[in-house]
Amino acid sequence: MRGRAPQWRRAACACAALLAAAALATALAWNSIFESVFASQVALKPDTRSFRDWVAPTVPLFFEVYLFNWTNPENFPEETPNLVELGPYRFREHRRHVNISWFPENGTMAYMTQRTWYFDADTSNGTLEDNVTIINVIAASAIYRARHWGYLRQKGLSMGLAMFGQGISVSRLAGELLFEGYDDPLMEIAKNLPASTTGGAPPLDRFGLFYGRNNSIDTDGYVEITTGETPGVLPGQIVRWNHLDHLPFYEGSCAKMAGSAGEFMPHNLTEETQLEIFMGDLCRTVYFNYSATQSHMGLNYHKYELTKTSFDYSPLAPNNTCFCKEECGWSGVMNVSACRFGAPAFLSLPHFLHGDADLRSKVDGLHPDPDKHSFYFGVEPKLGVPVDVSARFQFNVYLEPIPNIALFANVPRMLFPVFWVQQKVVLEEKVAAELRMVRAVSDWGATICACVALTFAGIITLASCCKKSQFKKPKDIIVTLEKPRDEAEMKLNPNEKQ
Ligand SMILES: *[C@@H]1O[C@H](CO)[C@@H](O)[C@H](O)[C@H]1NC(C)=O
Ligand SMILES: *[C@@H]1O[C@H](CO)[C@@H](O)[C@H](O)[C@H]1NC(C)=O
Ligand SMILES: *[C@@H]1O[C@H](CO)[C@@H](O)[C@H](O)[C@H]1NC(C)=O
Ligand SMILES: *[C@@H]1O[C@H](CO)[C@@H](O)[C@H](O)[C@H]1NC(C)=O
Ligand SMILES: *[C@@H]1O[C@H](CO)[C@@H](O)[C@H](O)[C@H]1NC(C)=O
Ligand SMILES: *[C@@H]1O[C@H](CO)[C@@H](O)[C@H](O)[C@H]1NC(C)=O
Ligand SMILES: *[C@@H]1O[C@H](CO)[C@@H](O)[C@H](O)[C@H]1NC(C)=O
Ligand SMILES: *[C@@H]1O[C@H](CO)[C@@H](O)[C@H](O)[C@H]1NC(C)=O
Ligand SMILES: *[C@@H]1O[C@H](CO)[C@@H](O)[C@H](O)[C@H]1NC(C)=O
Ligand SMILES: *[C@@H]1O[C@H](CO)[C@@H](O)[C@H](O)[C@H]1NC(C)=O
Repeated sequence: MRGRAPQWRRAACACAALLAAAALATALAWNSIFESVFASQVALKPDTRSFRDWVAPTVPLFFEVYLFNWTNPENFPEETPNLVELGPYRFREHRRHVNISWFPENGTMAYMTQRTWYFDADTSNGTLEDNVTIINVIAASAIYRARHWGYLRQKGLSMGLAMFGQGISVSRLAGELLFEGYDDPLMEIAKNLPASTTGGAPPLDRFGLFYGRNNSIDTDGYVEITTGETPGVLPGQIVRWNHLDHLPFYEGSCAKMAGSAGEFMPHNLTEETQLEIFMGDLCRTVYFNYSATQSHMGLNYHKYELTKTSFDYSPLAPNNTCFCKEECGWSGVMNVSACRFGAPAFLSLPHFLHGDADLRSKVDGLHPDPDKHSFYFGVEPKLGVPVDVSARFQFNVYLEPIPNIALFANVPRMLFPVFWVQQKVVLEEKVAAELRMVRAVSDWGATICACVALTFAGIITLASCCKKSQFKKPKDIIVTLEKPRDEAEMKLNPNEKQ
């Protein structure tokens, strides 16, 4: 019995030492361990949860459209256009990623996006039968394409527009203006024109602001992203868009295709980080700067926002000038004509928020408000999970006076707002609870391991002390091990120890 006890003790000591070392190592390496487990979970592989959540998201998505009803078109251009905002017309969005191909040798995958929208009559403010008046986008597009033509061709177009009864505005039902589309004699003509005069746009039989997008897999294009399997590479970063690795519309740094494709954010974000997100709708990479730290359902997140300089073309933002082709126009807008088959399409923030004051002086009824109209990504900084996202932009049509075309002879040079859209994503409570837990594990894991290491270290010390001073009573050891009372107290009660 006497010979066996030290042996047993030695084994226990060795075991405890091993566990202490393991716990200590875990504590020290906690961040890397967490990183690699996390990285393996967020990487896009056919069997990960990340992939299942991505391929057919179950998060409720809403697409909200606000239309600007033009109430005084008969007095244009003498009277400033008066716009009344209608909406939101709310659509539930069902999104799927389809036609997925994997390229494991490159650490990438490619996909297309198919979206279906369902009108949500209950939560919309308005119906699809609302009679809405907007600028005549078809005529404005035809005239924009003709702005550099010669006198005779312009006169010809002018007569053609008059013959087909084209006015400066159109009044249609909201449903027709949005997804359903409406017939227009000009569309018939456009179908028979050579592609060069229509900018290569696919011939459509109807016109609608979102006509042809419902259930289409082509709208967002063919996207190639990183899977995150290659060490050190984040998942969801854009590699190619429609088989190109740069933007053909611009030159220099503006042609750079980079950043997240919108669904995966980098992690370890700081206040200095600039979020880089590629947006097919804007045909460019957009940069978001940190603006605030907010809290939602017990989760702190960083808000990254579009600011005044995001679409500024003044010398204050030299990096933006490569987006201008002929001249740098108003700041606060993005000329997306080049990637919309030459249509006079300009995107801005809703109500020209952060835009040039001249834009707002040409129309009545716009009231920019950062709370309602800003474009931001709220991201949990450590894990890079989007918590609160509001993607918003406004579609505007460019007008300029063209003396030879009667319809546009006297129009001011301006951007005419047509509609704005909002896509909000707010985390569900179930996911938020999960995130809070992951966050706690990541924050406290190292501390807990360190405590475990300390405990085992304590046991070893205890055991080895036992071995050295076998004659001491266990009680003494406990007293020497823990040192809860300060010396003064011990001096005051010298007898207590005995
Ligand atoms: C994130 O930060 C942790 C430490 O805070 C570090 O170990 C890790 O490498 C970082 N990850 C990335 C992707 O930068
Ligand atoms: C839009 O404006 C026109 C002209 O003022 C008006 O007749 C129509 O009722 C308005 N539409 C809605 C939905 O308010
Ligand atoms: C609904 O739309 C009307 C204008 O058509 C507007 O005055 C009203 O504020 C809107 N209501 C909400 C809740 O947005
Ligand atoms: C699906 O992806 C393949 C590439 O793997 C591509 O060739 C094909 O055109 C895609 N299908 C559609 C309908 O675009
Ligand atoms: C994979 O990478 C190679 C070499 O960089 C490239 O030639 C090839 O086109 C890539 N394949 C895909 C599908 O991206
Ligand atoms: C989109 O298509 C689906 C059928 O696939 C249809 O049920 C839905 O009403 C359409 N949405 C709109 C806005 O037209
Ligand atoms: C819509 O309103 C305009 C006038 O604002 C009117 O001329 C047109 O007939 C109306 N359309 C419908 C379908 O009610
Ligand atoms: C955004 O951040 C970048 C880099 O951190 C900086 O160069 C730029 O000036 C910032 N822009 C604004 C508007 O703060
Ligand atoms: C601006 O451009 C310069 C040179 O092209 C580049 O070094 C810098 O990082 C760019 N800044 C931003 C915020 O993109
Ligand atoms: C918009 O951009 C296109 C091509 O990038 C250019 O040809 C056109 O002149 C620009 N429009 C205006 C009004 O600046």
